[in-house]
Amino acid sequence: MEFILVTPQAQPHVALIQLNRPKELNALNLQLMAELRDALKELDENDEVRAIIITGNERAFAAGADIKQMAGKTAIDMLNVDQFSTWDQIRKTKKPIIAAVSGFALGGGCELAMTCDMIVASETAQFGQPEIKIGVMPGAGGTQRLTKAIGKAKAMEMVLTGKFISADEAEKHGLINRVVPVELYLDGAFKLAADVAQMSPVAAKLAKESVNRSFETHLDEGLHFERKNFYLCFASEDQTEGMNAFVEKRKPEFKGR
Ligand code: CAA
Repeated sequence: MEFILVTPQAQPHVALIQLNRPKELNALNLQLMAELRDALKELDENDEVRAIIITGNERAFAAGADIKQMAGKTAIDMLNVDQFSTWDQIRKTKKPIIAAVSGFALGGGCELAMTCDMIVASETAQFGQPEIKIGVMPGAGGTQRLTKAIGKAKAMEMVLTGKFISADEAEKHGLINRVVPVELYLDGAFKLAADVAQMSPVAAKLAKESVNRSFETHLDEGLHFERKNFYLCFASEDQTEGMNAFVEKRKPEFKGR
């Protein structure tokens, strides 16, 4: 891996992926995204991992897709390379993913953070979809996920003016989970990941899948999907352990089976 650093057990059951192109503000070139796709697939298949954190560095989570790599491309080049298809793996990852964001989360960087399940941001974080300023528009989910997260009016303003919003504004509008002092943003993400990692990995996967389904379907279908996943939990040893532990007044020990 040239552009990311992967630590499968950064903390018990929690993996850390760090985007590592600091000089380019972690601009997401094709190789970085392919590495991220492969790492996520591997971590998703690793039974020891129950939650994954994606982070950048203090100055930048990621300043977007690599403009230098795209500048000379034609529409057919873009179509043939289909760079955003590698992003599907992020969406398909079954384990919970937390973005730990500091500094710039712009364009594809904001889209990457939004593709994760939760976002912990430092007080210096800035979120934006500035593609309009370089003559294009968001292409990796920005118009969809941002609108669903913060509503049409704010999303439209961000997408049409390219203006950034601060971490505080992002929290106020429901884009992120919390804002923490800059020196604590990674700790904050690890704390959240540790809370998730204590739960049944089977239930966490099914719950994540069900929450995400709400974005893709109408209520009746979503409720049906949720109910099936709830019943499926009862096929797991973790359900027996969780409920017995409650009755016996002890802490459950989930095994992911
Ligand atoms: N692609 C390629 N290189 C980038 C980059 C990007 N998205 N963002 C920053 N860089 C590079 C800069 O070119 C610069 O490299 P050099 O030192 O070789 O010149 C280096 O990172 C540092 O950047 P700056 O000197 O510009 O730093 P700054 O502090 O003055 O400004 C910034 C920071 C406001 C983030 C500015 O770099 C910027 O506006 N970046 C582009 C943001 C953007 O437009 N993102 C959207 C990209 S398109 C997209 O993402 C499509 C999609 O939907 C997926």
